[in-house]
Amino acid sequence: MEKLIIQGGNPLVGEIRVSGAKNAALPILAAGLLADEPLTIRNLPHLQDITTTMELLGSMGLTLTVGKRLQVEIDSGTISNFFAPYELVKTMRASILVLGPLLARFGQAEVSLPGGCAIGSRPVDIHLHGLAAMGAEIEVSGGYIKAKTTGLKGADIILDKVTVTGTENLLMAATLADGVTTIKNAAREPEVVDLICCLQKMGANISGAGTDTLRIEGVKSLMGVTYDILPDRIETGTYLVAAAMTGGHVRLKDTRPELLEGVMSKLTEAGATVTRGLDWVELQMKGQTLKAVDINTGPYPGFPTDMQAQFTALNAVAEGVGVVVESVFENRFMHVQELMRMGASIRLEGNTAIVTGVKNLTGAPLMATDLRASASLVLAGLVATGETVINRIYHIDRGYETIEEKLMNLGAKIKRVPR
Ligand code: EPZ
Repeated sequence: MEKLIIQGGNPLVGEIRVSGAKNAALPILAAGLLADEPLTIRNLPHLQDITTTMELLGSMGLTLTVGKRLQVEIDSGTISNFFAPYELVKTMRASILVLGPLLARFGQAEVSLPGGCAIGSRPVDIHLHGLAAMGAEIEVSGGYIKAKTTGLKGADIILDKVTVTGTENLLMAATLADGVTTIKNAAREPEVVDLICCLQKMGANISGAGTDTLRIEGVKSLMGVTYDILPDRIETGTYLVAAAMTGGHVRLKDTRPELLEGVMSKLTEAGATVTRGLDWVELQMKGQTLKAVDINTGPYPGFPTDMQAQFTALNAVAEGVGVVVESVFENRFMHVQELMRMGASIRLEGNTAIVTGVKNLTGAPLMATDLRASASLVLAGLVATGETVINRIYHIDRGYETIEEKLMNLGAKIKRVPR
């Protein structure tokens, strides 16, 4: 299995381009199922999860034509089945996002239950309740969701919890339902807004983007269009934290700073100087000491749970004590024991990590467990004394396009070895 080997100690300096957002690309690829004509998507990141989604759509018989710079055209006209197998879904939970579109357009779907993952049980009950409210007949048996409908009907839905993919699944289903659907307590993440913008361009009638109440008036059909995925705010935040931790000076271009207000204000609180333009953001430490910050994760516009592991790593080498509360997932501290093996001083109390900064971490062999935890181990390796070897880096390849190339461009001593 591939590994990453990092020699810590180099400050990151330079400029890199931010890739398209994984968590916007996944639902928008699934939206290809809704359109009567081919949907062309551009600025796709080159990631395993994108490949997995394209494989899933291809296995259903859709025709995918890959263009330059990871542009893909999706033609659902050649669909031959409505089946999402366990073998694919187990590698990427977000496969559940084909359920709503399949029901809305074709009236049937058989999708493997995603199952849990390292960070939590990750149920999909809210997805299923919402689709049932729209008239779908749903049976869960043998590890599969079997759903059918003679035609979805608009419904008034209140989500028990703010769920990103739950909102996206129901939103996509509602675009072709008969009548008006309202979704209350909807997720407001920028990736949900990006999906809404794409659906509106395809002819969907949706209002309330970016608020917790969405109103969707069903239409007869959706057109194929060309759509550019928005930049990845979590990738942006991850490299900003890397620059802060290594005492460097990094500029990230082709991004959207306004999607990172919470992260940028925490970095400023930690002592960094953050400047920004319309599509770029720059961080430098100017010799300032990194200070620990308190974090409490929550749905957007709260502090993103996908940045929690990275800030836990930042606190591990900052001055003072940082209290990190993970309020979204029940088990998203898998990175803590690995950071402690590098010498971090962290005390876990339920969903809270009390992190006392240490002078330096020591490189060690580490095990990646989930996508963002793995990123935090890379960040720790960049500042640790000596060599850090990270195993199971397929977790990282799911969410960070060419991470070692981008870090090498910034002066990091990092390489990927086959085993
Ligand atoms: C999305 O996951 C993201 N994935 C996650 O990013 C992200 O961490 C998460 O939203 C929170 O922002 C994609 O967009 C592909 P949720 P999702 O449903 O939609 C509970 C990454 O690192 N819940 O918003 O699966 C759930 O257990 C990934 O890129 C139910 O109880 O997360 C959790 O506690 C990791 N029932 C909370 O809601 C449901 O039916 C929020 O989960 C659905 C969710």
